[in-house]
Amino acid sequence: MELKEAILARKSIRDFRPDPVPKGVIRKVLELGVKAPSAMNTQPWEFAVITGDTLAQIKQANIEKLRSGTMPNVEHSVVSWMPDSVYRRRQVDLAKQIFQLMDIPREDKVKRAQWLERGFRYFDAPAAIIILVDKSLNESGPAMDLGVVAQTICLAALNYGLGTCIEDQGILYPEVLRKYTDIPESKRIMIAIAIGYPNWDFPANKLESTREDVAAITSWYGFE
Ligand SMILES: Cc1cc2nc3c(=O)[nH]c(=O)nc-3n(C[C@H](O)[C@H](O)[C@H](O)COP(=O)(O)O)c2cc1C
Repeated sequence: MELKEAILARKSIRDFRPDPVPKGVIRKVLELGVKAPSAMNTQPWEFAVITGDTLAQIKQANIEKLRSGTMPNVEHSVVSWMPDSVYRRRQVDLAKQIFQLMDIPREDKVKRAQWLERGFRYFDAPAAIIILVDKSLNESGPAMDLGVVAQTICLAALNYGLGTCIEDQGILYPEVLRKYTDIPESKRIMIAIAIGYPNWDFPANKLESTREDVAAITSWYGFE
């Protein structure tokens, strides 16, 4: 796949076929992923890859926490925008696009709750990659490196016919992940990537998310 083609083909996948992803394939994806650059080659990333019964138990426990109204207990928050900001506006625009594709009316609380749960089930992906960082590093310092590796993983996955969704919903209950794995307390749980073979018939997988015009967000200096 050409580089430009891959960049344009990558999109967040929010429903997957049940087919398991072989360990060897995910290992190859990660081997490509870790070619990502990092500050002074510190490579602060570590991964916990989860599938099978373990992932099924985590999905179930996440849903139980959500339904019981348990407040998320994140070790790393990606949410920092103000309610009246452009960032919130973009978030709302995305939700509107998804709900339209999924035929979820704004006032339909049941369907909205069902949609919310999908993220806590890793969008029914057969596998999830959890990105970890050592707690000896501060929370924000390695975040840039982890973002770069996450995108590289998502691009590498395309090479094997795999789809991905980077998602913080999958790490909102870190205590659940810790209960069913032996992720040590010394590692901060930063972000999840749902990974599997896309279900292309799923309406939300047809979403083409929008972007601001580069002209509106770029200043140019020293050009003719
Ligand atoms: C750090 C991060 C966290 C995200 N968390 C979620 C999430 O919890 N649920 C979700 O549906 N999508 C999540 N996404 C996916 C974004 O919504 C998606 O990347 C964005 O809408 C652009 O769409 P695209 O990935 O299809 O290009 C996340 C993406 C990033 C980079």
